[in-house]
Amino acid sequence: MTLNETDDSCGEVRGEAAIMIRLDDFQGTPEELAEFITPVWKESYQGRMVYPDWTGDFFRWQMRWDAPDSRRHMIAAYDDDRLIATLLGTSFSFRVRSEQIRGSLWSWMSIDPEYRGRGLATLLDRDRVRRLQDEKTDLIVSYRYFGSRHSLAEQPKRSNGRPKKFNRTIGLWIRVLDPWTMGRWALKASEGWMARMSFPLTPVPNPGKLDGCVRPATEQDLPRCVELIREETSGMVLSLDWGLDSLRHQLLGSPLVTTLVFERAGVIEGFVNFHVLDWVGRFAGKVGIFDLIVTGRLESRAALTLMNAALRTMVAKGAILTVKVRAGDVPASLMWRSHFVPKPADSHLILQWVSKNREIPSRSPTHLLWR
Ligand SMILES: CC(C)(COP(=O)(O)OP(=O)(O)OC[C@H]1O[C@@H](n2cnc3c(N)ncnc32)[C@H](O)[C@@H]1OP(=O)(O)O)[C@@H](O)C(=O)NCCC(=O)NCCS
Repeated sequence: MTLNETDDSCGEVRGEAAIMIRLDDFQGTPEELAEFITPVWKESYQGRMVYPDWTGDFFRWQMRWDAPDSRRHMIAAYDDDRLIATLLGTSFSFRVRSEQIRGSLWSWMSIDPEYRGRGLATLLDRDRVRRLQDEKTDLIVSYRYFGSRHSLAEQPKRSNGRPKKFNRTIGLWIRVLDPWTMGRWALKASEGWMARMSFPLTPVPNPGKLDGCVRPATEQDLPRCVELIREETSGMVLSLDWGLDSLRHQLLGSPLVTTLVFERAGVIEGFVNFHVLDWVGRFAGKVGIFDLIVTGRLESRAALTLMNAALRTMVAKGAILTVKVRAGDVPASLMWRSHFVPKPADSHLILQWVSKNREIPSRSPTHLLWR
């Protein structure tokens, strides 16, 4: 089949019956989106590679479901009425040095196994670029996992040297919370064994004197949280440029999300933000994903108090491990003291410029979300 790359639809003749494949905004509910994407990933990876088990609630939050135009960033391919592929993104404002630009964070390229190898990935990518050109969005941020030989994600093509959009390789900070369950959950025997061996370091310290300063975030905290995160990311070459609305959604926008603030003498001095998601290894296990760790104004004891409060909350929610993308936006010393370890890089960070190319040095600290 050849797909028509200049049009949103294309025809194919299969046997006697002609079928139409068209690209469109995704038409269904968050639950229907999850019911398509998660089984595609399950079929591709179960038993071979750990994959996340996304739910309707997750997509409702992540895609800002009810925001105007959110559907323009949920691209779907249909064969007649059958959903056969998706590519999803969320708009964000970014800062590149002192320049503010419109950008977007993308993931969930998922193609029904029956329709693979026919150029649909390229078609979805071109449609995305066309949509972003129309709305003058300049940057596409995404990741390609290479930590397993089973990963089907796009990899740099060796023949034409280093493709521009592959900015750097990137890894995770990882902290085991339940070594025995993680030991059984891990797909690789070596990882299970390492999780069990880490047991002396895994208990989260009990609350101390400063824990009285930690509490869940509220709407009233938002302006101060914006101030803190802007201060924390101000020197970075590339950073999400949080404002009141985007941070409100990130910190308080779903029952899936937890945000804890550290408040002393009536002033918020730092905050952390995470969500817990099932990842499927040998079975589904809960993983705490830190998105924001903002502790620049806290002395080390207070920063550790905030981190440990977050870890205890994750344990109470049943998490067996927790991760934070390692991009230079949190102090390594805080992560080590919270008993995180750096995992070797296992993903490519993709920075795809839609109109004007900007140079982002591959070693510069960045502040982004990991999806
Ligand atoms: C990864 C997956 C979408 C590829 O589907 P596919 O049908 O084999 O891909 P296609 O044959 O249509 O296209 C492959 C081409 O698209 C490109 N491509 C793949 N993923 C891409 C992406 N996310 N963005 C842009 N281009 C991409 C590849 O570079 C390749 O280019 P080439 O033809 O010049 O070599 C599919 O295997 C899948 O759904 N896997 C499970 C989910 C998954 O792992 N998604 C990837 C997350 S990063």
